[in-house]
Amino acid sequence: MNNHTMEDLVSLCKRRGFIFQSNEIYGGLQGLYDYGPLGVELKNNLKRAWWKSMIYDRDDIEGIDSSILTNPLVLKYSGHEDTFSDPLLDCRSCKSRWRADHVEDGKCPGCGSEDLTDPRPFNLMFKTNVGPVEDGNSFAYLRPETAQNIFTNFKNVLDSTPHPLPFGIAQMGKAFRNEITPRNFIFRVREFEQMELEFFVRPGEDEEWHKRWTNLRLDWWQEQGIDKEKLELYHVPEDELAHYSKATVDIMYKYPHGLEELEGIANRTDFDLGSHTKGQKDLNINAKVEKNTQSNAKLAIQDLNTKEWVVPYVIEPSAGVDRGFLAILNEAYKVEDLEGDKNRTVLNLKPHLAPIKLAVIPLKRNDQAIVNASRELKSKLQKAVTGRVLLENTGNIGKSYRKHDEIGTPACITVDFQSIEDNTYTIRDRDTMNQERVHLDDIKAYLIQNYNI
Ligand code: GAP
Repeated sequence: MNNHTMEDLVSLCKRRGFIFQSNEIYGGLQGLYDYGPLGVELKNNLKRAWWKSMIYDRDDIEGIDSSILTNPLVLKYSGHEDTFSDPLLDCRSCKSRWRADHVEDGKCPGCGSEDLTDPRPFNLMFKTNVGPVEDGNSFAYLRPETAQNIFTNFKNVLDSTPHPLPFGIAQMGKAFRNEITPRNFIFRVREFEQMELEFFVRPGEDEEWHKRWTNLRLDWWQEQGIDKEKLELYHVPEDELAHYSKATVDIMYKYPHGLEELEGIANRTDFDLGSHTKGQKDLNINAKVEKNTQSNAKLAIQDLNTKEWVVPYVIEPSAGVDRGFLAILNEAYKVEDLEGDKNRTVLNLKPHLAPIKLAVIPLKRNDQAIVNASRELKSKLQKAVTGRVLLENTGNIGKSYRKHDEIGTPACITVDFQSIEDNTYTIRDRDTMNQERVHLDDIKAYLIQNYNI
């Protein structure tokens, strides 16, 4: 059975320690969430899988981790100061404020009044003061996307780790947007994480690479356990494109609240490098860029054969970590009927994403020999497995199995009296609920073969 609601996911997240409302004990702060003990593991596993696919499995992409506080000039030349806004209007009756595209038939979604102001642009970037004097001049932005400091580091990365075209720079981390209407749990929030790749290609090869990255990203989401049937491509119409984009394809996912964007893959042309570079007039920049007199770096690459300077085009697959988390959770959540009118909740997470890889469960909570043997086994397995192995000493095997089904632990290993005699352990599979007795010497191979952990 898989017809659950967003509330089912929110409830599981709170009950089991995946996600909590941020600042909850003081009434919360809208659009912010905290990841709990299990959430942080799942989130890190998702990010690690992305990093591996981008950096370790390829030889043409480098990673960086840049600052979050951003010099306003970066976001001036990127176009964000002028264009990164949503049109907003106010209801004069109930004093509420709405995004213009959320208002239908000219009526306030809150009270239904038609007494609304005209839409005005509202910039979505957060500002903060830098240094001891709050005079309004020494401020920085909290980055609204991780992309910009990839562009500003283009020359640093190339000088230290040279690559011919095509090549990429990847980054994951926090981004901040003062969303007018944060909603749908972690889908639209004010502080979130992105996993972004800026892939630099020769002008003219951009459209081919755009298609290629769209397919690669679709495949990757399926490798994370997302059903192909729940993914759709949306070719963003020209009048909806961001200011830097020549073409954007969104990967849409069927969330509990509807079909919505999970990742966007944009062809950013030579807009960003062209905007941030010095010596614009000597470079053959195609995009319409603002004249830049303040950059001190030439963001171009020299063709070794022709000696010509080229401002590369950029293909950008940009994914939201939190939206990925929500999609994966939604996909994995199942309520299964069992015999005798019972049911169980199970998260069929891919083992590489599971927050707990293995649970070691002593058959008897107070039997010192069994508990000691369990501790020893946990410690051995923890050395063999990447990710968390948990000693689950509740004394109730059935309850422990249910808990680990619900949090997606791929396998539970029970330690009983026989284990102490002959070093064999019962391994119970989350999905099939089958149990097998395996000797200690064979456990590692068993785990690799069955779970690749
Ligand atoms: N650098 C390009 C860029 O930032 P975007 O479409 O604005 O493009 C990319 O954002 C991805 O970041 C989205 O596909 C989404 O997954 C995620 N994202 C954007 N705004 C978000 C928000 N308010 N809350 C959660 N995730 C968000």
